Amino acid sequence: MDWQTRPRCDQTAVWPLLCAHTERAFNLRCAFEQDAARLEHFGFDAPPLWADLSKNLIDAGVQRLLNQLAHECGVPAHRDAMLRGERINASEQRAVTHVHWRWASKSGLAPDEQVPDMLKNVSGVVPEAAAAQSDMLAFAESLRANDAITDVVNIGIGGSDLGPRMAVQALRASGHASGPRVHFVANMDGHELAELLPRLRPTSTLFIVASKSFGTAETLRNAQSARDWFAAQGGVDTARHFVAVSANHAAARAFGAERCFGFDDGVGGRFSLWSTLGLSIAIAAGRTGFQALLAGARAMDRHFATAPLPRNLPVQLALLDLWYRNFHACASRCVTPYHHGLRSLPAYLQQLEMESHGKRVDLGGRPLAAASAPVTWGQAGTNGQHAFFQMLHQGSDMVPVEFVLVRWPAHNLPGHHDKLLAHALAQARALMLGQAGDAPERDLPGNRPSTMLLLPDLSPHSLGALLALYEHRTFALGSLWGVNSFDQWGVELGKRHAGEIEAALHSGETGALDASTAGLLGRLRGC
Ligand code: F6P
Repeated sequence: MDWQTRPRCDQTAVWPLLCAHTERAFNLRCAFEQDAARLEHFGFDAPPLWADLSKNLIDAGVQRLLNQLAHECGVPAHRDAMLRGERINASEQRAVTHVHWRWASKSGLAPDEQVPDMLKNVSGVVPEAAAAQSDMLAFAESLRANDAITDVVNIGIGGSDLGPRMAVQALRASGHASGPRVHFVANMDGHELAELLPRLRPTSTLFIVASKSFGTAETLRNAQSARDWFAAQGGVDTARHFVAVSANHAAARAFGAERCFGFDDGVGGRFSLWSTLGLSIAIAAGRTGFQALLAGARAMDRHFATAPLPRNLPVQLALLDLWYRNFHACASRCVTPYHHGLRSLPAYLQQLEMESHGKRVDLGGRPLAAASAPVTWGQAGTNGQHAFFQMLHQGSDMVPVEFVLVRWPAHNLPGHHDKLLAHALAQARALMLGQAGDAPERDLPGNRPSTMLLLPDLSPHSLGALLALYEHRTFALGSLWGVNSFDQWGVELGKRHAGEIEAALHSGETGALDASTAGLLGRLRGC
């Protein structure tokens, strides 16, 4: 099938059959009673991950129809086009190249590592990737090898912050990070930078200005303030203490960052941690750690590229996402990682999923017939159990929950990890079974769906596989919905308004503004 003429999910022959299926009540407890092999059927192996999808509101019949949907929508053809480096980001006329960065360095590949056919021409798609990556890793290693730099500050926002911040946090918690301290500053709110600066010394700090466009207001403001602070503290040799990571070398140089680690336009911000944008990760985890992260992601790439649709975990998760959003009207999904190191995973996924799929039109500009991005939210377990789990168990809305479990902890405090795992399994079981209480307020309806993702550990390899799983799932869902998962035009308008409003805040000239904004500015100026 030609990926460009693929039908949208609601235009397929199988769509009405799926609609008919939602009429039928489905009971998880009965499903397990009737099918002794349910776990086997809905357990998925995508090494190093294993996933239990059995506590979801589907049976073999629905699964068959969903697989047919993926097939009719041409998801495999679309996937192959992305991997071959075709320009699937239509609104920006670009290829989508984040996967290619994981395969760029031949020396990073294990000698017996199999390269999927579609990824055999990586150097033709992103010719600069291998050299840029090797340069970035050499720089990270040189920094780790001497004590001159004790603190590294990554200044960036959105995709230039969330992925690296989450990955460094995860690797630090699991004992896979060492070297200089790595900090992250993102917010326009100066409190974030102001809190960090007094803890730094200009002589031993490296600032990484991370911005694909090198035009993002928050990043430029923070970078400028950091440079002013550096100069005010008597810092010399700005070129040694400020480097950039960007696809816009000219703007980085104009800022004064002589050294710029580049990457190509095809790497979307929210997919960029594998490129040179992962410099902060490489500094924390070292060459070996970063390469292991890439290797884990490649294991998932191979699975995504080659596993048949019915056993393809990213595709199966995307189909479930669609099933709940479009056939059960679920307006949100909850992600709850049971590992302190993954506490920022929900924030990272919010950008990955909602910036990718918060869209109202398809690739051809036509209004979507089916609802798109639900709200992604959550926080680490068990903290969430004492905050929002009440709503998951007894609230009026059904929210599919995704648990992420890590088999082995990196600490040796006795009596914690088994309890942590037990709590996660207990919550999923309680969501499924519910209970008939002796009073209405003690009734838990049950039949509430959940998915379990199981990692053996939180090593760079496992983390890489987990993140690549989420990326491919996002791609597959966009492919089913027929939306472009790789643009984000919706965020531009607010940025434009901000310039006009800041000028009005200074000048008091509010005539061109609406009454509410003008009134608020009046109050702010009067305070
Ligand atoms: O907010 C929109 C956005 O463009 C994101 O897509 C991106 O990750 C973020 O801003 C930061 O952009 P940049 O890396 O260009 O500074």
